[in-house]
Amino acid sequence: MELHRITPLFDAPAIAARIREIARQIEQDYAGETLVAIIVMKGSLMFAADLLRAMPEQDVIVEYLGVTSYAGTESTGTVRITHDLASDISGKHVLLVEDIVDTGRTLSYLLENLRSRRPASLKMVTLLDKPSRRTVVLDPDYSGFVIPDHFVVGFGLDLDQRYRNLPFIGVYDPS
Ligand code: IMP
Repeated sequence: MELHRITPLFDAPAIAARIREIARQIEQDYAGETLVAIIVMKGSLMFAADLLRAMPEQDVIVEYLGVTSYAGTESTGTVRITHDLASDISGKHVLLVEDIVDTGRTLSYLLENLRSRRPASLKMVTLLDKPSRRTVVLDPDYSGFVIPDHFVVGFGLDLDQRYRNLPFIGVYDPS
């Protein structure tokens, strides 16, 4: 582990506090409804675990999607579903849980794919948003932190599958 390359950006208490705020907002917006939360693996694992546990009053069905699009610090530009949903989401209120929206290509592909399955509603929540890198017009419905154009790791986010287990989010410096 080359931890000296990582400069902390958000520590665990800051992440936890922001997640609680988003959870409260989502609970208010979906009061009385059943929510199908789709966790986009693997990056959203930690975020989704904390977010969903921060809304114990909400009726939630958990689903997950396996998706790959990155190699190293650059997007390959091609999104591939490696594990599909186990249930039918037609007529359901669906919330897609993402770790980060960068160019927006992954999200726009997933939203289009999920929309074709005719959910009653479809929204998305992301822990991090890098709007300066966007190549498609897309605004997350709920977002934790807006960050500048840095490659970040930790709290589920990886560099070639490493660093996901860090309890904080930090900027990775390759130099
Ligand atoms: P997009 O399609 O460019 O928006 O990329 C979305 C996906 O790329 C995310 O779900 C992440 O898996 C990955 N990604 C984008 N930026 C970063 C980063 O700074 N660190 C780690 N993974 C990232």
